[in-house]
Amino acid sequence: FHIDWDLLMAEKNGFDTFMLKEIHEQPRAYRDTMRGRIDEANQSVVLPGMHLTDEQARDVRHIQMVACGTAYHAALVGKTVIERLTRIPVEVDLASEYRYRMPVVPDHTLVIAVSQSGETADTLAAMKEAKERGARVMAITNVVGSSVAREAEDVLFTLAGPEIAVASTKAYTSQLIAFYLLALRMAEARGTIDKVMLVEMLALLERLPVQVEEMLQRLQPIEQLAHQITRHEHLFFIGRGLDYSVAMEASLKLKEISYIHSEAYAAGELKHGSLALIEEGTPVIALATDERLLEKTISNIKEVKARGAYVIGIALEGNMELAKTADHVIYVPHTHALLTPAVAVIPLQLLAYYTATLRGNDVDKPRNLAKSVTVE
Ligand code: G6P
Repeated sequence: FHIDWDLLMAEKNGFDTFMLKEIHEQPRAYRDTMRGRIDEANQSVVLPGMHLTDEQARDVRHIQMVACGTAYHAALVGKTVIERLTRIPVEVDLASEYRYRMPVVPDHTLVIAVSQSGETADTLAAMKEAKERGARVMAITNVVGSSVAREAEDVLFTLAGPEIAVASTKAYTSQLIAFYLLALRMAEARGTIDKVMLVEMLALLERLPVQVEEMLQRLQPIEQLAHQITRHEHLFFIGRGLDYSVAMEASLKLKEISYIHSEAYAAGELKHGSLALIEEGTPVIALATDERLLEKTISNIKEVKARGAYVIGIALEGNMELAKTADHVIYVPHTHALLTPAVAVIPLQLLAYYTATLRGNDVDKPRNLAKSVTVE
């Protein structure tokens, strides 16, 4: 199929910047990426345009993902989701590393390249490397007719629409939606998900756009919170499991546009070195949406609090625990644990946005960065 990217559509539509417009377009991007891919009558995922048959999906024994930047962070979420739902082991590589590390590509390997633009040189080279080593190559991309789309045997398009701001927002979350659909489809084909869980996950997936819409309406106070971090030069994000993957993306977002040095750590790893960096007042953004790991994450938060950190927590609505330890808590709506990244990242995109704005930076065109990197 063909999508016309009309230039008029690329206008800011009343928003100050493309980035803010694109953050607010996420509910629509979620809907568009899901449209026509959920068969309501049969409560099943259908991916028209994908050549991978059920039999071939059953035949996959290894998955390797290659991507750069934000797309790499989406792939990290994709790994957890696919492993959890299909039990296929997944490796994720930075495309620039994969292509030079002489990767071992066993038989029955599916390689998934993730790229918003579909033109990233390293991602394309990694795809070629994978093909030469005999893998079947699939792409998740936002641009029809792009080089990545042409290089792949199967393409799953994200329908985020044109993304103009250099810092990726709606393309990232649309990649998450694409991974949810792909994981569910493969789990169905392989019989690793039961119908009750599938029906439940589809319902929760379809609720995400409304949940994000509602959240965007009540996230204004984040602008105030940005004042707390804008004068700092170092900042940390911590989390476990999927919260760690989201922390990595949130940290990148903040770096890209605010130029504040920030790092994401697996919360449990902090004490093995990085805790030494925490000083009085150092902001630590602690993601604690995974109820299974909540107790552990809270004890990590206590460790940084004891060293004087200023903690902003991200928790599920209704969770009262985090508020007892953190200085401030941002609440995100309840959904399936695997789907939580698609809501948890939203306030952190806004936090990066407002922090950068307060610093007077050009949010849409950050220094030294390009939207699409077609050189090595
Ligand atoms: C550039 C952009 C990033 C992007 C990365 C990968 O560095 O500034 O925002 O995540 O390239 O781009 P791709 O188009 O392959 O997703």
